[in-house]
Amino acid sequence: MARILVTNGEGTPGVGTAARMLAAGSGGLDAIEAGIRLVEADTTIRSVGRGGWPNLLGEVELDAAMIDGNSFRSGAVGALKGYLHPISVARAVMERLPHEMLVGEGAARFANEIEAETADNLIPDSERVWRQWFEETVSPTERERWPEVDLTALCQQAIDPEKGMDTTVFLTLDAKSEIMAGVSTSGWAWKYPGRLGDSPIIGAGCYADTRYGAAACTGTGEMAIRAGTSRAIVLYMKMGLSLAAAVDEAIDDLRRLRGGLIQRLTLHAIDCDGDHRVVTVNAEGQPSYWLWREGDEAPRAEPAEVVAL
Ligand code: GLY
Repeated sequence: MARILVTNGEGTPGVGTAARMLAAGSGGLDAIEAGIRLVEADTTIRSVGRGGWPNLLGEVELDAAMIDGNSFRSGAVGALKGYLHPISVARAVMERLPHEMLVGEGAARFANEIEAETADNLIPDSERVWRQWFEETVSPTERERWPEVDLTALCQQAIDPEKGMDTTVFLTLDAKSEIMAGVSTSGWAWKYPGRLGDSPIIGAGCYADTRYGAAACTGTGEMAIRAGTSRAIVLYMKMGLSLAAAVDEAIDDLRRLRGGLIQRLTLHAIDCDGDHRVVTVNAEGQPSYWLWREGDEAPRAEPAEVVAL
C-alpha cells in the first residue's frame, strides 16, 4: 500500500521530517516520534509541549500517547510536568514497562529514571497571559490564600485563550504497511490540575490497528473520551464500514452527547488502503491539516471537512 502521513495544523514543525523519514523507509513510530518532538519543542505551537498553556495554578502539565497498530502496545503519559518531550516518555512506557499509562508524579519519576530531557515549560508569554487572567479573575481574598482556594468555581469561569484544547496528532501507514498513531498536547488552558484530556486515553485520543486503519482527535477531549471516538472509528472499519462511513458513524455517536463540554472536535482517520478523512465538528473557522502521500514532493495543507453536530 502507498505510504501516507496525516497530521493536523499543529503538526507543521514536524510534518516535513516525518514525511521524509517515511519516504526513506522509516517505521511509523520513529517518524511520529521525530515529528512530534519538533512540535513539542516549538514555542509557536501554543497547545503542545513547551509552548503549551498552563493549568489553573499556572503549571504546564503535558499529555502524550503512542500506539503500535500491530501489537496494540501503547504508551501514554498524563499531567507530566518538567519534561520537554512527553511523546518520548510515552514511547518509553510502551517499550520499557509492563504498563500502558503513567500519570503525574509517577510519570515524572519514570521520565527522570530514563534521563528524559527536562525543561521549564512555562514560557514567558504563557506566564504573562496566565498572570493577567489571575489578576483579573481571582479575588484579592483568594489571592491571599492562593493556592488553597476553591478551584472548582474558578474552573467554571476559566476562559481558554485559544478556545482550542488543541493537540498534535500524527497517523502513519509506513513502508511495511503498518499503521501507527501518536499524539501530544498541553490540554485545555486553565484546566483543573490533573485534568487529562483524550490524548493520553488510548481509544479516545488515538487508536491504530494495522489491519484496518487509525484515528486521532484534536479539540475538546472530553467529547472524544465520552464517545471513545478513535477506537470507535477503527472498530466501525473492522465491522465492515468504509473509512468515510466509519467517521460518519463516530460523528453520529457525538450527536448523542448531552451536557458537559461540547465544543469543537476534529476527527482524523486513515485506512489500510492509504485513504484518509479529516472532519471538524462545531468548527470555528476553517481548520486545515497536512497530508503527505508516497510520491509527493512535500506535504500539502488541505482544508478539513466541516460538519455541524
Ligand atoms: N484534545 C486535547 C485535550 O482535550 O486535551
